[in-house]
Amino acid sequence: MYRIETLDEFIIKRQKNFSTATGELTGLLRDIGLAAKIVNREVNKAGLINILGKFDKENASGEQVAKLDIYANDKLIDFLKTSGECAGLASEELEDFVPFPPRNGKYGKYVVLVDPLDGSSNIDVNVSVGTIFGIYRRIGKEDEPASLDDFLQKGTELVAAGYVIYGTSTILVYSTGNGVNGFTLDPSIGEFCLSHRDIKIPQEGPYYSVNQGYYLKFDLEMRRYIDYCSDLNLRLRYIGTMVADIHRILFQGGVFMYPNTRKYPQGKLRLLYECNPLSYIVEQSGGKAINTRLERILELSPEELHQRSSVIMGSPKMIDEMKEFVLRYAPDTVGG
Ligand code: AHG
Ligand code: MN
Ligand code: MN
Repeated sequence: MYRIETLDEFIIKRQKNFSTATGELTGLLRDIGLAAKIVNREVNKAGLINILGKFDKENASGEQVAKLDIYANDKLIDFLKTSGECAGLASEELEDFVPFPPRNGKYGKYVVLVDPLDGSSNIDVNVSVGTIFGIYRRIGKEDEPASLDDFLQKGTELVAAGYVIYGTSTILVYSTGNGVNGFTLDPSIGEFCLSHRDIKIPQEGPYYSVNQGYYLKFDLEMRRYIDYCSDLNLRLRYIGTMVADIHRILFQGGVFMYPNTRKYPQGKLRLLYECNPLSYIVEQSGGKAINTRLERILELSPEELHQRSSVIMGSPKMIDEMKEFVLRYAPDTVGG
């Protein structure tokens, strides 16, 4: 008989397969899963309890913050602070990272970076939003509190990353560097259940995902590539929630792009909170993720917490093709 496998069971089973696993990472992932369930509950009833709308404030990146962003941010802090495994959290919503106090005289071995609510402009219109997370092993010692260096690590150093999509159903997708698995929340039992085992991104696919409204603000080579996608009759899909756009491409194949524009010369999306964790998932599923200079996202050296990056990620064949375009139209401006 088929028996469901919950996220907690799956995480524990996986841990047993690795002799080096200590259980701390396991606890962290479970805490993130728990926070995601609480955020999911609030996202679902947002319309009912009138917590929709905007706070009269801006986030660290200068954008207006919706109330649920703060709620999700605070829930993640609450759960991770008490876990004992986490030494601190950095969030898209906070200017600086938050160091957590020690437990039994020891600080946690890991730090977590989050975009607590991705796609917040979609909340008010009942369109999918998400949560993105990345986990790093700290550089600092266990008897020292978390420092900025613990957070400013390259994506290649991620020990786990994932996202939650609050869509028609709520799905948590994560990887610890050994493939990608997805878990759908069964609201009747309140558990994330294994629903998408060993996700592999298609080599190529029918979709391209970009804010084509900015077409004239993109560099020539990106415009040429977008024209090519359109020539091929690829279907344009753009939700404006990165998590949701990547989720589609992960399962059905295609390419997601947020190139630099005149308004955002470095790109808009945040390297640490958005680009790195989602690049990790895409690569773990067999895909590729680069910036418009053709540098691998996961190898970029972060210099500050809220650093932005251009990003192109998705099906491997399509990313290779995109590279050819850039090299043909702008061979002098790229590093690759
Ligand atoms: P956030 O809501 O966390 O600020 O992220 C929004 C991001 C991302 O999810 C999406 O891909 C992109 O911004 C949309 O930007 P545009 O409206 O400029 O296309
Ligand atoms: Mn975001
Ligand atoms: Mn956000």
